[in-house]
Amino acid sequence: MKVFKTVHSIKGILSIIDKKKTIGFVPTMGALHEGHLSIVKRAKIENDFVVVSIFVNPTQFDKEDDLIKYPSKLESDLKLLDAVLCDFVFTPSVSEIYNINIKSETFKFDGLDKVMEGAYRQDHFDGVGTVVKKLFEIVKPNNAYFGEKDFQQLQIIKKMVVSEKIPVRIISSEIYREKDGLAMSSRNNRLNSAERKAAPLIHKSLLKSKELFLIKGIDFVKNIVKNEFNNNEFLNLEYFEIADIETLTPTTKIVQHKKYRAFIASFAGDVRLIDNIALN
Ligand code: PAJ
Repeated sequence: MKVFKTVHSIKGILSIIDKKKTIGFVPTMGALHEGHLSIVKRAKIENDFVVVSIFVNPTQFDKEDDLIKYPSKLESDLKLLDAVLCDFVFTPSVSEIYNINIKSETFKFDGLDKVMEGAYRQDHFDGVGTVVKKLFEIVKPNNAYFGEKDFQQLQIIKKMVVSEKIPVRIISSEIYREKDGLAMSSRNNRLNSAERKAAPLIHKSLLKSKELFLIKGIDFVKNIVKNEFNNNEFLNLEYFEIADIETLTPTTKIVQHKKYRAFIASFAGDVRLIDNIALN
């Protein structure tokens, strides 16, 4: 496994790869866990070479404090990536990616960016789009992998590659969970023991919404979930929504043949956790 810090050096190595070989790309912000590694393993099976980027992207954080507290574990990340046979790791500095202009481009995501995460995190998806577009331009992958854990991000990236005409196939990967159902996240390490104990309620309420959604309807499910969170002293629900997977517009009515997912964001102390589930 080779590690590159500069755009020039990673472009150099990738440019000498035979054009008939495929490159799979897994963008990350590091502090890697089994969820990330499961994607890298899959990319390794499906491509000749795998590139992983580790870059904590400042433009996608709406809160300075969240950016500062984002965990950094480069040394152990590199060991984990080596063990799953990753070929190339790209670990650029902020100036390497943004030069002196640490700003987002503005994208048209047809409203996908205005709901849920987009409604609560100002300009978050323009920041994600900006960095992913820059990384795609550097790595030029055939296939790029994104987790369903960030389902809204996945749909937005799919929209961006179409509108920006970027020749890459976007491949989605299932949510990887702890044994008690909590979706793996780099932020989970910041939970204290009471918060960690309470956190599986997030997945439990998603499972309950899946069970009840067709029988009892959306309003009923929403009330049940809100009550569960109101009764929990360690979790503070930010939103629970059921949305059509194409438009991501939260809905209260079920239309036949459409596919829905339930989405949740909750604070546990000052740690913000998100999760989602396919309902039908
Ligand atoms: P990060 O949170 O590090 O996640 C990197 C990739 O891993 C994303 O595609 C995310 O959806 C996926 N992932 C995280 N936890 C997962 C889990 N439990 N199961 C399955 N997949 C999981 O998402 C980002 O970084 C950034 O926004 C990025 C795309 C790198 C742009 O900066």
